[in-house]
Amino acid sequence: MRLVLLGPPGAGKGTLANNLKDALRILHISTGDILREEMKNNTNLGKEAKQYLDKGELVPDEVVTRLIENKLSRDSIIEKGFMLDGFPRTETQAKDLDRILNKFKKPLNYVLYMESTLPVIIQRLTGRRVCRNCGALFHIINLPPKKEGVCDACSGELYQRSDDNEQTIKTRMKVYLKNTRPIIEYYQKQGKLKKLDADRDSQEVQLILMKLFNEDENFHQH
Ligand code: AP5
Repeated sequence: MRLVLLGPPGAGKGTLANNLKDALRILHISTGDILREEMKNNTNLGKEAKQYLDKGELVPDEVVTRLIENKLSRDSIIEKGFMLDGFPRTETQAKDLDRILNKFKKPLNYVLYMESTLPVIIQRLTGRRVCRNCGALFHIINLPPKKEGVCDACSGELYQRSDDNEQTIKTRMKVYLKNTRPIIEYYQKQGKLKKLDADRDSQEVQLILMKLFNEDENFHQH
């Protein structure tokens, strides 16, 4: 199955992807995670990306599209199936993704649009903590670790992302509304969009999605 997770920052795309990975047995590809890894390793791409991420702005289309094209072209990922989280984010990226997949005659099956409201987004992002070692996601209130500042899975150190402050969250929301929201219509026209109320509890979101999938007569063919 080939999926895109679409939604505002903090809608829970990464959380849903982690929960779905085992159920669907497909690879989770997050452009945000890839860019942060490059930043951590201080590569040229990482240094370039940092200027945008720290301000909450988008990395140029050609940079992220090249990254995704390289990633998808490796190890038969397009044939095996994947879940894209954070890509596409502009209409140009959406068209480029279609172009890449059409070369393999493997178009997207679904685009999951995770709708969330601003107060929920701010609460989730300002309280998010991430494991520096394994990337596991926590929240100081919604999903607290057993021991403060320590990852339950690998005992790594938890940190707060540099773009998870109120000022940068506001910029990220503006960028989302201007650049990313319009692609909802692009996918609606293709008949691929499935809407989810992402303000709900993460288990509920997953259950609603699995119900939507099971009601879809094409789901078991993917
Ligand atoms: P990216 O890393 O993709 O950030 P984002 O889209 O802003 O999304 P987030 O990762 O912040 O949120 P999420 O929806 O995954 O929420 P999560 O599950 O973590 O991108 C970062 C930057 O990289 C961009 O600003 C840009 O600069 C650059 N970039 C990336 N892709 C790009 C592209 N294609 N083009 C150009 N630039 C690009 O959840 C958040 C918190 O809430 C967690 O603590 C979690 O525990 C909690 N939570 C989640 N769901 C629930 C729930 N249902 N109930 C209660 N708590 C929940």
